[in-house]
Amino acid sequence: MRMYDIILKKRNGGILSKEEINYFIKGYTDKTIPDYQAAALLMAIYFQKMNENETVYLTEAMTNSGDIINLADIDGIKVDKHSTGGVGDKTTIVLAPMVAACGVPVAKMSGRGLGHTGGTLDKLESIPGFSTEMTREKFINNVKNFKIAIAGQTADLAPADKAIYALRDVTATVDNISLIASSIMCKKFASGADSIVLDVKTGSGAFMKNIEDAFELAYEMVKIGNGMGRDTVALITNMDEPLGYAVGNSLEVREAIETLKGGGPGDLKELCVTLGSHMLLLAGDVGTAEEGRQKIKSVISTGKALEMFKILVGEQGGDVDCIENTDLLPQAKGIYELKSDKTGHINKIEAETVGSASLILGAGRETEDSIIDHSVGIILNKKIGEYVQTNDTLAYVHYNDYKRREIAVKRLKSAYLIEKTAKPKQPLILGIVDQKGLLKKSDCVI
Ligand code: URA
Repeated sequence: MRMYDIILKKRNGGILSKEEINYFIKGYTDKTIPDYQAAALLMAIYFQKMNENETVYLTEAMTNSGDIINLADIDGIKVDKHSTGGVGDKTTIVLAPMVAACGVPVAKMSGRGLGHTGGTLDKLESIPGFSTEMTREKFINNVKNFKIAIAGQTADLAPADKAIYALRDVTATVDNISLIASSIMCKKFASGADSIVLDVKTGSGAFMKNIEDAFELAYEMVKIGNGMGRDTVALITNMDEPLGYAVGNSLEVREAIETLKGGGPGDLKELCVTLGSHMLLLAGDVGTAEEGRQKIKSVISTGKALEMFKILVGEQGGDVDCIENTDLLPQAKGIYELKSDKTGHINKIEAETVGSASLILGAGRETEDSIIDHSVGIILNKKIGEYVQTNDTLAYVHYNDYKRREIAVKRLKSAYLIEKTAKPKQPLILGIVDQKGLLKKSDCVI
C-alpha cells in the first residue's frame, strides 16, 4: 500500500477502505508517513468528505492508536458525558457528583481549556490542593470505592488524534464534520466509556456556530457511537450566551457548588438535570428520562450530590472546607461593575466575546503553556431577555491587573446588544438525537 495512492483515491472522490485508513493512522502515528502527505489527505477529506463507514473506521483506528482504559473491573455501565465546549460551562462539576450520587459510576477524563472556552480540569484546580493527576490504579479504585473520579487525559490516549488535530489546526482542516466527530468519539472510546451522552453546543460561544451544523455533528457522533456498539445520545443545546452567570475558574466552581446546594442559575440546573437523566437512562438505572429527572432532582434536595462532591474533592487532595465556605476559593483583588449605558431589552450577550474578555483577564490560555489565574473572571448580572435601565449593572468583572481590566471591560461591553424591542429568546435545549434519529422537543422529556 502507498500513501500516494490513498491521497489520490480520496482526492478523486473515492471511498477509502478500512485497511487504507488503518495504514494512514498507523503510519502517521509511528511517523513513517510525513506531515505533507497527511496534510494532503486531510485536505482531500475536507473537500470530498467521508461516508459513515469511513468515519467509523477512522474513529476505530484512532481509538486503537494508543492506550485503551479498561473499566471492566468497575461494576455497572460506565456512561461518559462530553460537551463540545462553551463559555461558562461548568456542567461536569455539577453533573458528575449528581450522577454518582444516584449510584451510577462516573469515571471522567476531562480536558483543559484553550482559547475562549474553559476546561473542567482548570476549573477544578482552582480548589486549593485539588489534583487531576493520578495513576490509572487510583483512578479506577476511586471509581470502584466512591463511584467518582475526574482525571486529566494522558498523552497515551488516542495519540493519532493528538497529532492529527495539531496538523488540522495549522492546515485549515478543523471544521469538517467527520474529522471533528471521529476526533471527539475516539477519545471517549479510548477512555473506556460503555455509553455516551453528548452535549453539542451551538451559538456564538460554540464550535458549531449554526444549528444545522450542530445537528449534523450530533447525528454523525450518534451514528459512530452506535456503529461501535456504544449507546449514544446527543443533546443540542444553546450557547448564544454563557451558561449560568459565572465565567472564570473559581467563579464557576463557586456557582457549581451553589447549584449542588440546590440554588444556582436556572439554565445550568436545567441542563444538568436533562443530561443527568439521559446518563441514568443509558446506565439502565431508570426506565424513562422523566424518572431520571426526578432521581437527579432528589439527590440535590437530599444533599447527596453535595456529599458526593465533597468525597470527590477530598479524595483528590482538595480543601473540602471551600465547599462549605466558598470565600476560601481564590478571589481577585478588585471587582469592577460594568453599567449599562442604555435602557432596553438585552437581546444579545455574545458568549464568545464574554469568553475572550475572561481570557484577557487571565482566566484562560492563549497558548498551551500559558499560566492561568484562577481567581479572575466575569459574573453576569443580567441574562438575555432581561430589561435594563441606564446605569443598571450588567456584569461584575473580577480582576487582578488594571491594564487587563481596561481591555477586558471594553471587550465585554461589545458583547451586549440592548434594544428597544425584545427579540424572542432561543430555548436552552434545541433537540435530542438518539439512534432512532431526532426526537423533537415535544416528543421527549427535556
Ligand atoms: N474537539 C475535539 O476533540 N476534536 C475536534 O476535532 C474538535 C473539537
